[in-house]
Amino acid sequence: MHLPNFLSVRFADALRTLVDDPAPFASMIRSTNDPSFGDYQANCAMPLSKQLGKNPRDLAAEIVERLDVDTCCEPPEIAGPGFINLRLKTSFLLQQLRAMLVDERCLVSVANPKRKVIVDFSSPNVAKPMHVGHIRSTVIGDALARTIGFLGHEVITDNHLGDWGTQFGIIIYGYKHFGDPEKVAKNPVPELASLYRLVNQLIEYRKAKRAAEGLPAQLAEAKSEVENARQTVDATTDPKTLKSAKKSLASAQKKQQALQSQAQSLSEKIEQVESDPTLLAQANDHSDVDHAVLEETVKLHQGDAENLELWTQFLPHCKDEINRIYKRLNVTFDHTLGESFYHPLLPGVVEELEKRGLARDSEGAVCVFLDEFNAPMIVRKKDGAYLYATTDIATLKYRLEEFKPDEILYVVDSRQSEHFDKLFAVAKRIGMQDVKMVHVNFGTVLGENGKPLKTRSGTLIGLEGLLDDAVQRAREVVCNPERLDKIDPPMDDAELTNVAQTVGHGAIKYADLSHHRTSDYSFSLDKMVALEGNTSAYIQYAYARTQGILRKAGQREQEVTSIDPQVTDFTHPAERALAMKLLRFEEALVSVHQDYAPNALVDYLYETAKAYAVFNDNCHVLKAESDAIASLRLALVALTGRVIRLALSLLGINTVPRM
Ligand code: ARG
Repeated sequence: MHLPNFLSVRFADALRTLVDDPAPFASMIRSTNDPSFGDYQANCAMPLSKQLGKNPRDLAAEIVERLDVDTCCEPPEIAGPGFINLRLKTSFLLQQLRAMLVDERCLVSVANPKRKVIVDFSSPNVAKPMHVGHIRSTVIGDALARTIGFLGHEVITDNHLGDWGTQFGIIIYGYKHFGDPEKVAKNPVPELASLYRLVNQLIEYRKAKRAAEGLPAQLAEAKSEVENARQTVDATTDPKTLKSAKKSLASAQKKQQALQSQAQSLSEKIEQVESDPTLLAQANDHSDVDHAVLEETVKLHQGDAENLELWTQFLPHCKDEINRIYKRLNVTFDHTLGESFYHPLLPGVVEELEKRGLARDSEGAVCVFLDEFNAPMIVRKKDGAYLYATTDIATLKYRLEEFKPDEILYVVDSRQSEHFDKLFAVAKRIGMQDVKMVHVNFGTVLGENGKPLKTRSGTLIGLEGLLDDAVQRAREVVCNPERLDKIDPPMDDAELTNVAQTVGHGAIKYADLSHHRTSDYSFSLDKMVALEGNTSAYIQYAYARTQGILRKAGQREQEVTSIDPQVTDFTHPAERALAMKLLRFEEALVSVHQDYAPNALVDYLYETAKAYAVFNDNCHVLKAESDAIASLRLALVALTGRVIRLALSLLGINTVPRM
């Protein structure tokens, strides 16, 4: 039951005699900010009055006159410039709660028409260790896939693994020059990871050295720009010119600062290598490492037997590594079609683009020029290598032919926006205009200092370590002896471990999902596992309380299927407020799909858990004034439990019966 849509249908009927196309006006139903005005407000009278040349309040009265909402609403009230306030009738709410008790879907309707939606998510570049940045795509994509699927759409999940790029050039190079075949055979995952780290560090060192070369000159230039700008400021008396002179000074200073901090981070990178004699020697022996790595990658792509053999040997280990994390996070995919899968299709893609006149030669490379962008999309480099973009065009073609989707969602970092803008522009030009393609972009995970999250050594924090920390912290917070003393019968170790794991993993996922995906957020384990505030532990605890009450009542959640027929009214405002939240579940789910934003469901959960807390504080269930009232309250408890459990599961988060 989507209440605003349900009301819109009534409004559409009422508006039909006033306007030819009532749908856009009928759908202008919003929840009220202040419950004293009712539950929803219809905002159609104001815009429609302009179109019809009528007074908005008069028009609102006219609409109300024609509106048939007697069975569900109290008589509508007109307020302000022409808002129509709607308050749902108690009898209607109780009827809905009764229906909800016998509906597994908690009254969430099944989408019609049903859409076929591909969700491309997680998609890490394997061969390098997964870090905290990967959590966002994985967690957001999984939540979207689950929610959209639950709404009744057909969802196809695809992990577009980076299993073919430079990262393999890196480990192949590492293996050939630093690898110990015996060690790699025995312990492939950590060995390959350390080879990756080593070679990557050597590459970074080379890049840093090169960038640092030009830096003194740039710094000197920036310094003199600042000095010049300062002199201009000092010499200027005219207030108007002074303002612009000060502006130039500020921007010169900003530039200087940026260069200085760049110099700082470069010298740190260089220092890391140069302070370690072994590393330094390796760096000097492999001064050509970055080119050599590219060559290894090219050789792999061209089918060089040795490199292909190594790739075939390494890939399963890289996959094992990420699969372990997926298992821990309880994330699955229908398909894992990595970049390597599309490699044979790439020449055909370039050929087709050329044939259509979309791609052409430019200084030896093949490029697609798009009017709306400054830089073209390169689809084949001068040396014959294909690019990430070429693979994405091939992927798109494959998906269209194979799956015939209505929508494709790419859950990928905001930094790739330009890539996707171009990809979608190309897609339109090759006849894919009927598919809705969305870059579901997201921001960066920051440390508590506001900078991208890093460990002391400067590398990104590994995902597994983070999950371990979260579980450990959850154990301390949730399972502390004071809390546990009150739990009867006591928890055994298996239960404690399960609680810590459920809360710890939930904390990481929930914290990520609670921020709007496009904003950056600061990672703080302490806040994430807290029992108070907008955290998974708070929601999971609310759920556990519902289960505690049901246990005391001697009933299982599924056994609560009715409310005593004598109940015709609420006895406390907290009951009604909670009931309203429960009946708005579908609204939250639909907005997750509409905006591709799981935080809408998180906000909903938090609101619901808070409403439940108020209800708990004010309404006795087991010691209610009468059996009839007890049955209403027990129904609210059971429904709260069901809605929370279901909603959390759509976010990929589990619950425990007590904590
Ligand atoms: N492997 C890429 C990365 O880590 C993300 C791939 C996203 N999906 C896609 N179809 N481009 O940056």
